[in-house]
Amino acid sequence: MTMPEGAEAGPERLVSALVDKGVLTSDWLPAFEAVPRHRFVPDVIWPGRAGMNRQSDRVIRSEEPEVWWRAVYRDAPITTQWDDGAYTGSGTGRIPSSSNSMPTMVFSMLSALDVDDGHRVMETGTGTGWNAALLAHRLGSANVVTVEVDGATARAARTRLTAAGFDPLVVVGDGARGHAPRSPYDRVIATCSTGRIPPAWVAQTRPGGVIVAPWGPVYGGEAVARITVAEDGTAAGRFTGSSAFMRLRAQRTARPHVRDYLKGRPWPADGVKSTTALSPDDVGGWAVMFAIGLQVPGAFPWTESYPDGSYTLWLRDTAVTSWATADYEPDRTAYEVVQSGPRRLWDEVETAYRWWVAHDRPGFDRFGLTVTPPRAPALARHPRPPGAPGHRIGPVPVLVRPVRTRRGRGPRRGCRKTARGGAGAGILGARARAPREAGAVPRPRHP
Ligand SMILES: C[S@@+](CC[C@H](N)C(=O)[O-])C[C@H]1O[C@@H](n2cnc3c(N)ncnc32)[C@H](O)[C@@H]1O
Repeated sequence: MTMPEGAEAGPERLVSALVDKGVLTSDWLPAFEAVPRHRFVPDVIWPGRAGMNRQSDRVIRSEEPEVWWRAVYRDAPITTQWDDGAYTGSGTGRIPSSSNSMPTMVFSMLSALDVDDGHRVMETGTGTGWNAALLAHRLGSANVVTVEVDGATARAARTRLTAAGFDPLVVVGDGARGHAPRSPYDRVIATCSTGRIPPAWVAQTRPGGVIVAPWGPVYGGEAVARITVAEDGTAAGRFTGSSAFMRLRAQRTARPHVRDYLKGRPWPADGVKSTTALSPDDVGGWAVMFAIGLQVPGAFPWTESYPDGSYTLWLRDTAVTSWATADYEPDRTAYEVVQSGPRRLWDEVETAYRWWVAHDRPGFDRFGLTVTPPRAPALARHPRPPGAPGHRIGPVPVLVRPVRTRRGRGPRRGCRKTARGGAGAGILGARARAPREAGAVPRPRHP
């Protein structure tokens, strides 16, 4: 393809940026050059912005070729499907359900995969087929299996792969089951996130083999786990860096509406009021959300923003038994909290936050993940006791030997609250700041 006139962005500029960042290494450079991203990006896209859970409006290649080209050669994710294909409009849908991942994330994960000649790889999340093509170029098509749950997405990827001269096995199905007929694999990679590493991935990886997969709790915060499979069928390793992928389809969390919690009553309903000295602004970073999510399972945040910039942090449990609100206003030292239900969700979040601070604000690299076979589940070895009794999930990441200490960012500034809005009034995800976005995080567009 020739570059559209006037479009200064292109593969050369992107390759320099990726090399300068140190994410595109010499071993993957030939694949990047031989497998241009534009051959795998569909003609209809919703460009994303790096580090933000936001997409631009739809771009159609034939109508805006230069905008399309610039989006392809920007280091940012590109949403290619909304709501499992149900939304195709000119704006944005509710949940991004397929994408071409951010190049920085693609090559960071390929680097973490550490493939060698002759390795056999299974990928979950074919998406546009770009990652599968990169792997096929490096290892040979016969050594690559890629599984995609969405039939139309898989078919389109297969067509692009064939057109580009690659022939990996594209399987339409649930990647959580892997693909046993071609196992064992030397490497397994997931380009959608998980909250539970599927047992099939471990079972289908040979001892000594490596699984690279984004992992994140329901609450938010996510990082790429790199775990090595042992002879005894367990797998263990550390997190390599933050990520923000769309969830494995079967592991998506339903996020009921606020009204399902209030049960027809106006806020604060039967909520119990208190105040806290902890600013809601201090619990919105991606790393602290990860640490909170490990200790406050089955709960999720949502931020209801007001025109003046102040906001209410809502916390709700997936069991629809409990909710809490914490109001942020700038220049305050005490914040109003309202809690309802058997779980005191703000108290849980606050306890988890204090644990995180007491442990020197560990970043993702301070956590490790051990996965045990389903028949012999091990309790997570948490170094502390916060969280709600009876809500523990496992296995979950635990703190591991420090490599280095990271400090969290200071609080942000906001504005004064003016209203408590209803559906669609806010932005999503507890002001989640995903440092690198590989595909957009699936967050519902309603409270
Ligand atoms: C971020 S995209 C993958 C990007 C892709 N690797 C590429 O190079 O374009 C995530 C993909 O995972 C797929 N997915 C979600 N759940 C899945 C599952 N259970 N099995 C297989 N694929 C799944 C989605 O349909 C989506 O296409």
